[in-house]
Amino acid sequence: MNHPTTTTAAHAGGNDDRFRRSDAIAGDELTLPDGFIWGSATSSFQIEGSPDADGKSESIWDRFCSVPGNVLDGTDGDVACDHYTRWSDDVALMASMGLHAYRFSIAWTRVLPGGTGAVNHAGLDFYDRLVDGLLSAGITPMPTLYHWDLPQVLDDQGGWLSRDTAHAFADYAEAVVERLGDRIGTWTTLNEPFVSANHGYVTGEHAPGHTSLSEGFAASHHLLLAHGLAGERIRSAAPDADLAIVLNFTPATPASDDPADIAECAIQNDLQNRWYADPVGGLGYPEETAAALGWDRSEVLDGDMALISMPIDLLGVNFYSRQIVRAPLPDDNRAEEPKEFATTAMGWEIHPPSLGELLRELDSRYGFSKLMITENGCAMPDDTRVESAHGSQVDDLDRLDYVQRHIAQVHSAIEDGVPVVGYLVWSLFDNFEWAWGYTGRFGIVEVDFDTQRRTPKRSADWFSKVAASNVLADPGPEPESGSGASADA
Ligand code: FCB
Repeated sequence: MNHPTTTTAAHAGGNDDRFRRSDAIAGDELTLPDGFIWGSATSSFQIEGSPDADGKSESIWDRFCSVPGNVLDGTDGDVACDHYTRWSDDVALMASMGLHAYRFSIAWTRVLPGGTGAVNHAGLDFYDRLVDGLLSAGITPMPTLYHWDLPQVLDDQGGWLSRDTAHAFADYAEAVVERLGDRIGTWTTLNEPFVSANHGYVTGEHAPGHTSLSEGFAASHHLLLAHGLAGERIRSAAPDADLAIVLNFTPATPASDDPADIAECAIQNDLQNRWYADPVGGLGYPEETAAALGWDRSEVLDGDMALISMPIDLLGVNFYSRQIVRAPLPDDNRAEEPKEFATTAMGWEIHPPSLGELLRELDSRYGFSKLMITENGCAMPDDTRVESAHGSQVDDLDRLDYVQRHIAQVHSAIEDGVPVVGYLVWSLFDNFEWAWGYTGRFGIVEVDFDTQRRTPKRSADWFSKVAASNVLADPGPEPESGSGASADA
């Protein structure tokens, strides 16, 4: 074992001994701090199925999937992983894998089918059972209140373009916290508001499928306001719980030293990496980019920014890839950059060092007391199998390598004093990957969608060992650049 970092604290901030640099030398093993949290993540729409059960109402994703052409393979979330009925077996599977924590999301449509108003206790019962099941299996439940499945009835009234939706979210959050708050240690408000606002209102790739830059700005502000308003309610209903938000980050590098590429990269960096973190961290919206893109800030009312910047206890970091940014061409078709490194089955470049750099930068820019990797993982072809203790198993050495290299970056950031307290792999299961349908397989557990059989992949077995020992093999140097394929190929 190589220079382990030791600790006794269960929860820690940047000044804790756990995060002191230990002068580790590159070697054959990497040890994460004692108490480091290993787990997996999913979301309601992607795994639950049962779209009408126990009084659930339609969500914007149910509606979006029903429009031909919106989802690559024409599928929907009606069955998905059938987790709504199989949750108990799924908890047992996670327990057998030795996972410490499970991040899932709660479907607003199950709890408040009308979007506002009467609480549907039958819907909340599902999460009540799930939380109890997790706790009795020794797994920490980490619920996210919003992972994109807005009640359709609220979208009919303007969705995230309406300030009322932020207030409705706070009421919904309070109803959930009142019921489950005695058993939850960390409440997460939103998952990736950038994707909700950008893909939902600007590019139209996601529900509700709008294409308007100004709507994107309005939605982004109302999402952040929802976080702040719900945060207040959570603080008063569950004062001892940690408050968190989960943001996605895709670090941006200019394609060249051409000033136009550098300027475009700064804009993308503001929009994708700072638009949410800066206001939550008390820095306000990135001014120059807001002005350059003509946002009049008419949605921002007195007091909003103070609410949005109320202190959080933990920032959830979702990381998959980086981006290389080139200025738009005159015909406005942005040229896609050739990838320097190998890509996943989604075409996303594999660049683990960007995660280490990101964690250091987040720590120095905002100084949040705790960071957690709340999503990291990859879709891979999964076309090789091997015999295993589980029977025929996906032999996903490529996914294993991806996860291992990213955890190595987390280790190195911790060595530099960044307070990363856990790593949750995306995802526990192959599941409904939004506009990609079931074509993008992210699970460490394979799901056969014909039989609903779950089979841990080789990466899952590896992850279990790491979770049990806190130790992983040092993956060694990163591949040379040039191993990637041209995006045009
Ligand atoms: C993230 C989402 C998650 C999943 C992964 C691949 O942006 O939060 O639901 O789709 O990407």
